[in-house]
Amino acid sequence: MLRRPRRNRKSEVIRQMVEETRLSTKDFMYPMFLLEGKNKKVEVNSMPGIHRLSLDHMLREMEECLKLGINAFDIFPVVEDKHKDKEATKSYDPKFFYLKALERIKQEFPQACIMTDVAMDPYSTDGHDGLVDEYGNILNDETLEILGSMALAQAETGIDIIGPSDMMDGRVEYIRDILDESGYENTSIMAYTAKYASAFYGPFRDALDSAPKSGDKKTYQMDPANLREAMIEAEMDEEEGADFLMVKPALAYLDVIKLLRDNFDLPIAAYNVSGEYAMLKAAAQKGWIDGDRAMMEMLLSMKRAGAKVILTYFAKEAALLMKNS
Ligand code: PBG
Repeated sequence: MLRRPRRNRKSEVIRQMVEETRLSTKDFMYPMFLLEGKNKKVEVNSMPGIHRLSLDHMLREMEECLKLGINAFDIFPVVEDKHKDKEATKSYDPKFFYLKALERIKQEFPQACIMTDVAMDPYSTDGHDGLVDEYGNILNDETLEILGSMALAQAETGIDIIGPSDMMDGRVEYIRDILDESGYENTSIMAYTAKYASAFYGPFRDALDSAPKSGDKKTYQMDPANLREAMIEAEMDEEEGADFLMVKPALAYLDVIKLLRDNFDLPIAAYNVSGEYAMLKAAAQKGWIDGDRAMMEMLLSMKRAGAKVILTYFAKEAALLMKNS
């Protein structure tokens, strides 16, 4: 036998020398759920280990993460029912707790990269990412105006990246124009480019109490059956000025990550979503799977497929594990 691939696996040192993909805490962006008020820390039932945090707790949590080398955070607001309405007006009210908190976070940690979410669902009584008409249709162009106001209000807090997760057509360009006209040409956009209508968002909707009140999201989020269609979304987001292209969910869509990686030069982000987290945690808690190893393997697969940034609820746990091994 001339070729024996096992020779390159014979010792730990050699295995490390030939290792093609290595995870770093710099790859991670940590999604977090912000609660209004003080001294609140409430675990998400379907996401063991993940909490909804009031600002004081969140600042402490971020400090710990920064010490572990996690420098990027994606912050989502938990909006109480009394603040919700049809037009998501709280989303661009500069006095609203989310926007106030973002300002404070940037003052506290100017070196950290903070991303915000642009979509109507947490603020909307309809629980949809866009404006809903009397027949239940999601109105694309009318929604853009609201998304534009939301994005501008978020940019004004000094955050680093706007994350439109709504899947309305044309929103990247619409937001880019508003930001540029207002002097925020340095605020980045991470487009949720290929965001699928997925069952894996369930725990996130529990965390934010943001599930649609009627219907589903299939007229704007993509059909899980479609790969080529991701190319159309990516071409549009690139032309419209996106700085990152995101694929979401990640684990069941590694082929989409690879496709975009192979065809576009913009950095690709993968969102390792709430249901992927919950699924692994549940099996690990039952002792049916080695949680630590499966977590690292899952994250590694996303990077190997071509993701430059991994948005993951495992960020802190993985960072701790990497530090101790
Ligand atoms: C809202 C939004 C969702 C997620 C991120 N932004 C849910 C949805 O589209 O219903 C899901 C994230 C996760 O499941 O971890 N537009």
